[in-house]
Amino acid sequence: MVLVGGHSARSREVCTELGEKLGCEVEFFHAIDPEPEVRHVNDLIAFLRRETKSQVDCVVAVGGGSVIDVAKAAAALAPVTDKADDFFFGRRAIERRGIPLVALPTTAGTGAEITKNSVLIERASKIKQSIRSIHMIAGAAVCDAELTYCMPAHLTAHSGMDALTQGIEAFCSRSATDTTRSFALNGIRLIMQYLPRAFADGADREARNGMCEGSLWVALSFSQSSLGAVHGLAHPIGSLLGIAHGLCCAILLPHVLELNIRLGAQIIETLAEAIGFHGKVSDLIREIRTFNRQFGIPENVAPFGLNREHFEFVLKHCRSSSMRNNPVELSDDDILNFLEKLC
Ligand SMILES: [Fe+2]
Repeated sequence: MVLVGGHSARSREVCTELGEKLGCEVEFFHAIDPEPEVRHVNDLIAFLRRETKSQVDCVVAVGGGSVIDVAKAAAALAPVTDKADDFFFGRRAIERRGIPLVALPTTAGTGAEITKNSVLIERASKIKQSIRSIHMIAGAAVCDAELTYCMPAHLTAHSGMDALTQGIEAFCSRSATDTTRSFALNGIRLIMQYLPRAFADGADREARNGMCEGSLWVALSFSQSSLGAVHGLAHPIGSLLGIAHGLCCAILLPHVLELNIRLGAQIIETLAEAIGFHGKVSDLIREIRTFNRQFGIPENVAPFGLNREHFEFVLKHCRSSSMRNNPVELSDDDILNFLEKLC
């Protein structure tokens, strides 16, 4: 068995304990950055192919979205290739399941433990996109809030705001159904109730449990309904400027909601009504801004150096499936005007 973990000592502890309890030979792989790149998948594939000589029966990923995403892609690809690049650029598709994967998330936010995609950056081009395949879905996901107890406050805020964004975008998605909307609503309510508490006191078990459950509801929703313009834009902006994914989503969320409502996305009013703001989108946006201030998240991306020279890249790489599911269509001019205001 190969355990893939983050850098936290806690993950190592969990990995060791798991290996002992399962009574099997365990190899560790830890070298993954918070914003994972294609090269990290290639490194893990090389590791797995070396270890496969002594038969890897299972890959267990213990960590945040980056760890799970890298493990997902590498476990699927290791039996067929030593490079993920062709799959990242869509030149090849994953045709069968690879090494069985178990995912244990240590953050409450990304939903990577149950989704079919692995979000990666290709360093040379700075392109951030997904390898997607149903064959990459983990065979089992263990969502235990106890694994999130030691998560630092800033990571709690970033991953939690990613989950909130995913919930809101899943609810408002063009591909949403009544079922996915009810899943998203469950998640949004829990996250809005518990995220400030989990941020203020990481040892608040009720809040950690609420965040874990909320994040899972949201993942069950967006894995079927897709997302929206926050995720469409956060990928190129984040990879270009080196902004962590959850942080980038948190910054963009209130701005994108304002843009969408200006362009007539009435579904946001339905959402505001359903979560107790009596249909007042302005109150929902104000609440999100209050969260961001409380978590020390900046109001826009200007501190990270966004300028007009970046606009062409963002425009070229924002037209993902997330963007296609935004509740209103955004023209190139809409996006350029939006970016102008973010600087
Ligand atoms: Fe996200």
